[in-house]
Amino acid sequence: MTPIEDTLINKKTTNTPIWLMRQAGRYLPEFREIRKLNPNFINLCLNENLSSEITLQPLKRFNLDAAIIFSDILMVPYGLNQKVEFKKNFGPKLGLLNLKEISQTDEVDFLKKLYPIYKSIKKVNNNNLTKNKNVIGFVGAPWTLLVYMINKHSPKQELIKNFFRDEFLINRILIILEKFLKIHIEHQIKNGATVIQIFDSWAGLLDEKDLPSYVYVPTLNLVNYIKSLNIPVICFPRGVKDYKTFCEIVKPDAVNIDYNVDPTTILKKIKIPIQGGLDPKILLSDKENLKKETLKYLNIFKDHPYIFNLGHGVVPETEPNMVEYLVKTVKDY
Ligand code: CP3
Repeated sequence: MTPIEDTLINKKTTNTPIWLMRQAGRYLPEFREIRKLNPNFINLCLNENLSSEITLQPLKRFNLDAAIIFSDILMVPYGLNQKVEFKKNFGPKLGLLNLKEISQTDEVDFLKKLYPIYKSIKKVNNNNLTKNKNVIGFVGAPWTLLVYMINKHSPKQELIKNFFRDEFLINRILIILEKFLKIHIEHQIKNGATVIQIFDSWAGLLDEKDLPSYVYVPTLNLVNYIKSLNIPVICFPRGVKDYKTFCEIVKPDAVNIDYNVDPTTILKKIKIPIQGGLDPKILLSDKENLKKETLKYLNIFKDHPYIFNLGHGVVPETEPNMVEYLVKTVKDY
């Protein structure tokens, strides 16, 4: 059992395990070098040699407990034949949503398009750098993918007007997403993913009353599926006001908290293992402050099963030596 697996079955480990969301990414000069030569982000994710190399880059530098596969949640809409592009300084841009075409996607075509991702996972899993560590596969939650598929770009603060107008369309897409997310999860696991994380980055956009239909139920269906394959699942319902209710209904093996969640309060409310929380912007400050904030989380969760991580992804402006210092602080604790 790895320290992450021990933590996920609710066991407190002597050393707190650590990995970071977006640990493979633009703050690393070795990533930027590869990225410069590969302007098409989707093609980069579909290059199993490069994507596995990028996945392993942070493990070469830092004493992390897991690799998270270098891919993107939007590879699923791409596999469903919706156009997906990543524009510099803009973020993702999706093409027209053609329900008829998406409904006609068959499993074989979907897998053919995404096949390099599974090969990349296999390579990462077979590499010595991940020995006795976890390989984390992931998907976007149905709600967050729906947001991108209908909105076509990041909703930042709010959704486009009339987002919920076409209820038929929304319900059809949620059904299609559930089917293909399960296929995507199954193949990540078959090729060596040992933990799955579900990213629901836009859960916080919804009113309380809409959470059951768009967040709780669709996520619960995926969580139950992952559990049926005997693989632990971590959920990150970013921005929801009530993490406790989310955990009671969805019952993931662990929950990642965002940086707006007060760790002391959540500790009193949630019984399951907790991951994350530290504001990624703290990595942009100085070592003294980083140490102080890191120790705050470690002390609060010292008697609770806890995986160290951030409250969102590492930002591109981060100095790699600050990440090194963070990992060291956690490991020395
Ligand atoms: O290290 C890792 O965490 C693994 C790789 C990973 C990426 N995206 C790579 C990536 C993971 C787990 C994701 C998840 C993802 N992608 C989410 C959920 C987490 C979150 O950030 O809320 C979302 C919403 C997306 C969609 C997405 N992809 C956006 C909004 C962007 C543009 C914004 C940005 O940060 O540039 C991307 C592009 C993206 N995905 C990059 C990376 C490394 C940047 C690509 C580049 O080099 O330009």
